[in-house]
Amino acid sequence: MTSTYTGYFISFEGIDGAGKSTHIDAFRTLMQERYPDREVVMTREPGGTPLGEQLRKLLLDSPMNLETEALLMFAARREHIAQVIEPALAAGKIVISDRFTDASFAYQGGGRGLSLSKLNELERWVQTLPNGSLLQPNLTILFDLPGEIAEARRSKVRTPDKFEQMNLDFFEKVRQEYLRRAKEDAGRFHLVDATQTPEAIWNGLKLIQIAL
Ligand code: TYD
Repeated sequence: MTSTYTGYFISFEGIDGAGKSTHIDAFRTLMQERYPDREVVMTREPGGTPLGEQLRKLLLDSPMNLETEALLMFAARREHIAQVIEPALAAGKIVISDRFTDASFAYQGGGRGLSLSKLNELERWVQTLPNGSLLQPNLTILFDLPGEIAEARRSKVRTPDKFEQMNLDFFEKVRQEYLRRAKEDAGRFHLVDATQTPEAIWNGLKLIQIAL
């Protein structure tokens, strides 16, 4: 809940190759046009702060123990919330983050097998607000598609980082955990069928209304 803030928090999620990067900048522009009086802050995880960007390099390049990886993801997130997200939301801004905590549940939990209880604990640790509620995006746009299609798309466009080198089974588990989170918190999630053409996806994104 971000109810104590006048801002609005949006996260973009999906398995690597789902196509979120294709649309996130255009979505930012759309929000800015719709809400000219509000500043739109674009950010990403892991990253979003100077320290977080350093952690991102380590996280995306270096193999590490699973708990270490989860702790570093959440350490970067804590810094991101404290330095960027909370102040922006308190000032009434619209924050758009390329990934947030659902990615930790999906990748470290679903993909690599970290227990839900540890993830819930880290989430509580890092996202509890001064009023005791848990900071979550107001809206999470989840690009969903089968791992096989995402894999085929990825192999065309880029040199893979540590996560992108994982096998199909890993990405299927990541996808299932995203879908489980979406089901659990249906009011927060907007599911995008990412097998559609980019044009059809964009037409769908333009229909999203936010309660500002
Ligand atoms: P991504 O957002 O896909 O950026 P790019 O488009 O530059 O590759 O890359 C971030 C990677 O980090 C992605 O593979 C998912 C992973 N990740 C986690 O494993 N856990 C997390 O909590 C977050 C935020 C990201």
